[in-house]
Amino acid sequence: MAGQELDWTPEHIVKRRETYYAASQRAFVPYRTPQIFARGEGQYLWDEKGKKYIDLLAMNVCISVGHANPTVNSAVQEQMSQLQHCTTMFYHPVPAHFAEELAARMPKGHDWVVHFVNSGTEAVDLALVMAQMHTQNIDMLALRNAYHGATIGAQSLTGIGGFRHNIPLLGGIHHVANPDPYRGVFGDDTEAYLAEIDRTIQYSTSGKLAGLIVEPILGYGGIVEAPAGFLKAATEKVRAHGGVLIVDEVQSGFGRTGDSFWAFEAHGVVPEIIVMAKGIGNGFPLGAVVAQRHVAESLASKFSFHTYGASPVSCAAGRAVLQVIDEENLQENAAKVGAKLKNALVKLHQKHEIIGDIRGRGLMLAIELVKDRKTKVPATDITTDIFEKTREHGLVVSKSGANRNVLRMVPPLCLRENDIDAVADALEKCFAGY
Ligand SMILES: Cc1ncc(COP(=O)(O)O)c(C=O)c1O
Repeated sequence: MAGQELDWTPEHIVKRRETYYAASQRAFVPYRTPQIFARGEGQYLWDEKGKKYIDLLAMNVCISVGHANPTVNSAVQEQMSQLQHCTTMFYHPVPAHFAEELAARMPKGHDWVVHFVNSGTEAVDLALVMAQMHTQNIDMLALRNAYHGATIGAQSLTGIGGFRHNIPLLGGIHHVANPDPYRGVFGDDTEAYLAEIDRTIQYSTSGKLAGLIVEPILGYGGIVEAPAGFLKAATEKVRAHGGVLIVDEVQSGFGRTGDSFWAFEAHGVVPEIIVMAKGIGNGFPLGAVVAQRHVAESLASKFSFHTYGASPVSCAAGRAVLQVIDEENLQENAAKVGAKLKNALVKLHQKHEIIGDIRGRGLMLAIELVKDRKTKVPATDITTDIFEKTREHGLVVSKSGANRNVLRMVPPLCLRENDIDAVADALEKCFAGY
């Protein structure tokens, strides 16, 4: 009851959760048995019994600069002691500074503005409304196997059946085949995926588009990156029909891919709208839509009010995240440590038949497991077994992809080179016998 002393007894935590969480929040659990975490520091986690784990999941890509990061913590504590909340109708320097700092991270030569929200889902919804209002068109293209969030708008854009409820989702949204060189419907034939966009526009839309939304690297979809040239050509097609490009950087942003701060930068496109969340606040509830001014102006005539948007506490965390990324060279670290981790994964691939593919860049990597390297039949059950072993051997990873046969690794950006030997050792034990 209110004020009752915290009860850390594992069975009681489980029972309370099972009894009082709604089914909608109970369903999404990774392992066969509950996992409790009690403490985190940097790239490490500890459970309630004191067992240590290397965190290769970063609480679903939120912990960008490390658990309990001292710079983030002191920025938050300082802001908490001054003013815990300042709703967006009043002025405060912290979000104003943060908006300026985010705009400065965008491609030069464009006029960028920021709208703060509380989550990726909210940012996606706002981006959708912005695209439709700016273009005065309705039809949107989205990729199959992409995840964009849980509200009706974001769920409608999501191309993964497991996240789509049996309700009337939004009309005007058309999913096109996601380019996937390993197991996509058109293999590595970029032109075939582009031709499918042409056909979809021709047959399924009015011919007038509001836009295209993409994850430059599919996250929950299993770390799948479009081949070079796809995004640029797809964007040209969409713009020719009046639409804009929305890039969802919720998982791939903030230096994670190593060679650029935003994943889209590797594809030679400048989006009209960029959506971000998760790593932006190192775990604090925060999301943002960063858009070119002329596109964002479309919403000037109505109120788009998010009570907690631009929260000074979350924005203080966000400013500290940018500071730590710069001071600790975490983007370069992602490139360097990511390359070492990928190298270890490639060695694992050479030894274990069950591994069909290794992919990703920076600290956004994946292992795909197949029953047969030629037929590529997903090894879903074995993936579950190996996934359970990763926990036993002190790793936290995620099980992803439409076939639940991908081990996804998106660690805090402060993972160090000297962690990789331990990760490689643990993975070797998990894959022994396969
Ligand atoms: C690519 C992507 N977009 C949007 C979202 C939605 O973000 P949130 O869970 O903060 O609402 C997620 C969440 O996992 C995501 O991975």
